[in-house]
Amino acid sequence: MSIRIMGTGSALPEKTVSNRDLTMLVDTSDEWIRERTGIAQRHISTGETLVSLTAEACAGALENAGKSAEQVELLLVATCSPERGIPCVACQVQDALGAKNAVAFDLNAACSGFLFALHTAYAYVQAGVCRNALVAGGEVLSKMVDWTDRGTCILFGDGAGAVFVEKSPTGGILGFVQHSDGARGDVLKCDGRALKNPYVNLPMETEFVRMDGREVFSFAVRQVPACIQEVLTKTGVRTEEVDLFVLHQANRRILETIAKRLAVDLERFPMNLDRVGNMSSASIPVLLDELNRAGRLKRGGRIVLAGFGAGLTYGACLLEW
Ligand code: UT7
Repeated sequence: MSIRIMGTGSALPEKTVSNRDLTMLVDTSDEWIRERTGIAQRHISTGETLVSLTAEACAGALENAGKSAEQVELLLVATCSPERGIPCVACQVQDALGAKNAVAFDLNAACSGFLFALHTAYAYVQAGVCRNALVAGGEVLSKMVDWTDRGTCILFGDGAGAVFVEKSPTGGILGFVQHSDGARGDVLKCDGRALKNPYVNLPMETEFVRMDGREVFSFAVRQVPACIQEVLTKTGVRTEEVDLFVLHQANRRILETIAKRLAVDLERFPMNLDRVGNMSSASIPVLLDELNRAGRLKRGGRIVLAGFGAGLTYGACLLEW
């Protein structure tokens, strides 16, 4: 028994910000950003909220799957940029959709979040807890980025993506692996709220995202190929039998290095980061939706999904579309 993706959806803020626009804010250039990251523009919220974007992506996934909101049994939202501490984003999205029969909660594993949420939905279905799930990844990271730090503000974009999954006796997720390395959490971090009460008032350590870019880069190019090999070994599938590798869209050079290490042609690594930047947990579902709507995902085709990011967290799954 597995789960199969039956529909996809996505939503992006209306405003696009080009690399050239960023040269007005920090000492950078279009050439540097394109060459080092592959990014040309990103979407930045000027009013859209994480809840509105995620609800729009979820509505798109339901419509694409031909399902109504009332049919959803589990609603998982992966995010590391909620507007509120409580209630969780998933409950707000539940309300916006009218998915009143769903159990809704959030999951935070940063850029691996969507993948970990998909694996959680799989485990819930396997355990007989539910028969379907709406799984979303959404971020409005622009509110957590230091717009004076050229090392980070050029990378991230806002957006949301979602999939509707259903219990399936064949195909769907064939296997997954996931890992966490909390000892290396310092390389990419951002504080929530500092401890402040009548007895103490501690300052925030990192109000904005702080990152050791080189460390994240070397972690990704070492662990992600190993993790993809691990899931392929587990499922007995060879790299040449995989049609597409849909990876977290962090940086073009990271994806090129991973493809090279796996000895896989870069053409089988679809990318949209040039247009949308790094959207953390929204990266994979937004790209999946673009591929799905462009007719590039064929029923029976084999796809590897892989995510990696803050935590550190990383994981991969193999699925039959
Ligand atoms: O979802 C996971 C999230 N994180 C990532 O994916 C990050 C992974 N890492 C990266 O993508 C890369 O490390 C970056 C794109 C962030 C940086 O590229 P890099 O090749 O590792 O550059 P660097 O940090 O080693 O910096 C090289 C130079 C430095 O100048 P000096 O010291 O050589 O004079 C930086 O100050 O480039 C400078 N620099 C910039 N120059 C122009 C850093 N950012 C910029 C910038 N524009 N935006």
